[in-house]
Amino acid sequence: IDLTVSKTGGNSSSPLLYGIMFEDINNSGDGGIHGQLLRNNGFQGDDPGLTAYYAVGDVSISQDTSNPLSTAITSSLKVTVPSDTTGYVGFSNYGYDGVPVLDTTYTNYFWMKGDYSGIINLRLVGNSTGTVYADHNITVDSSASEFTYYDTSFTSTKSSDADNAWQLRFDASTVAGSSLNFGLVQLFPPTYNLRENGLRDDVASFLAEVKPSFLRFPGGNNLEGETPSDRWKWNETIGAVVDRPGREGDWGYPNTDALGLDEYMYWCIDMGMEPLLAVWSGLTLDNSAVSGSDLDPYVDDILNELEYCLGSTDTTYGALRAKNGRTDPWPLKYIEVGNEDNVYSNGCATYASRFTQIYDAVHAEYPDLTIIASTTDTSCLPSTIPDGVITDIHHYLSPDGFIDLFNEWDNWSRDWPIFVGEYASTTANDGSTTYWSNMQGSCSEAVYMIGMERNSDIVKMASFAPLLEHFDMAEWSPDLFGLDSSPDSITGSTSYYVQKMFSTNRGSTILPVTSDSAFGPVYWVASVSDSGTYYVKLANYGSSTENVTINIEGATAGSLELLSGGELVSNYPHDVSITPSTTSVSGSGTFTVDMPAWAVAVLAVS
Ligand code: AHR
Repeated sequence: IDLTVSKTGGNSSSPLLYGIMFEDINNSGDGGIHGQLLRNNGFQGDDPGLTAYYAVGDVSISQDTSNPLSTAITSSLKVTVPSDTTGYVGFSNYGYDGVPVLDTTYTNYFWMKGDYSGIINLRLVGNSTGTVYADHNITVDSSASEFTYYDTSFTSTKSSDADNAWQLRFDASTVAGSSLNFGLVQLFPPTYNLRENGLRDDVASFLAEVKPSFLRFPGGNNLEGETPSDRWKWNETIGAVVDRPGREGDWGYPNTDALGLDEYMYWCIDMGMEPLLAVWSGLTLDNSAVSGSDLDPYVDDILNELEYCLGSTDTTYGALRAKNGRTDPWPLKYIEVGNEDNVYSNGCATYASRFTQIYDAVHAEYPDLTIIASTTDTSCLPSTIPDGVITDIHHYLSPDGFIDLFNEWDNWSRDWPIFVGEYASTTANDGSTTYWSNMQGSCSEAVYMIGMERNSDIVKMASFAPLLEHFDMAEWSPDLFGLDSSPDSITGSTSYYVQKMFSTNRGSTILPVTSDSAFGPVYWVASVSDSGTYYVKLANYGSSTENVTINIEGATAGSLELLSGGELVSNYPHDVSITPSTTSVSGSGTFTVDMPAWAVAVLAVS
């Protein structure tokens, strides 16, 4: 295959093209990227019970609704100590299928109520081995009249596995025959950019390597709720965590909402991403849609949310943002109205009017905001789409399905820009479910991405989904990357490496390429950066090695990144066999690349 990259012509590429989409699914937020490691710390959700809590020593524990920690956190943990008990007793929390115990410093917060003056002992302990990895005492003076807040930090040595618990113990002899209450226990390893209530540094740093341009949040289905009152409510995710009630998420488990609106914004700032805030459009997952004048209060709620993000500190909600620690407005330029409003019949039937109602209200106050519609389906959209509106499409397909869509954008109307808000290869070509991304599927995604990049004039943004899974708590796999509670478990899927290769090698102009061959099994796209680096992205969706000659006049040296490893080969937790290799290349305007079967490559030369 002989390719010649033109040095002139072409289209500007979209600087936003490669971003990420996040919602709390697979415990990707609580138990995933959010730094807090203890589970059920606010007894949130529909039926939390004593999930993750265990008695330590001769005590009994119970969820105590008669001792709420706050208006939002309506229960605490009661530890009852029988008469004549001695020694150190208390409770443990097993986190999200274990507590990650690393060689690092942990910050620990808790509230307690009850008469107790003395030592509180905090430990990280191997659950079945009893090995103590951290052991730390603080002295408290707690009263029975109100909850008192404590914070401390301690270091730990590393455990080899996930089977660890955090323990809080106290001297039983002074409590015997009585009880103590504890609330909102929180344990953080170092956080990304040292943010308070921040993201796990190790997880966020791994994601930052992808250099995503934007973050679409907070869903996905997790925006929508089963009923309007179950929707993601922005105003319940802000302020002190002790004032956040949490909610039963849409993926079958409670969300603490400790990862809330402000934390998403800090995430964007710290990772250099544009925030793309999805707002509730009236659709719920039971195929109901609030529309017409019934939607008015929710439109007001969106305006309040936007005032919180963008308003000056003279406004009601701008002042609230400042009170919560952020004086400057958030750098919000993109909002999306709903999620997949085409998927449900009542959603589609009412979306045109709901979208218009929300668009008109938002655009009138914030004319500079880019507003995204949650579907490209014209049967659900208003007959006239306002200038500047972007439309969102989602694809979960087989590998062949993505190859069939390589040309999707070539002949698409140029009337509105496109956002591919979710996509992933999720089934095999025979229709069976793919649990772990493999090279065939990831290669097909690369082919589709090459099609997007070739059409950068209309495809402005794209985000693979879902982003992250806790391997032991997943509802939806494959995901871009995953982890469990054991050390060194952060695992990039084969698709993670494709996203990283494509996102970190971006030109500013997509260049024409002439070739002696048609597309398939090898696909390509070329671009050049402002500083004169040429990028040629290649995908071989075939079972034979293909020899590719690439001509770029004047280019002499650079590198070749190559991802390959076998058609159905995947990366697994603690067993990552497929990562890109990088080699130096040189040539006098001509470079040869042997593309192994099922491979993705990026040539970067100047
Ligand atoms: O990414 C998983 C789910 O797929 C999203 O929540 C939803 O938008 C889509 O159907």
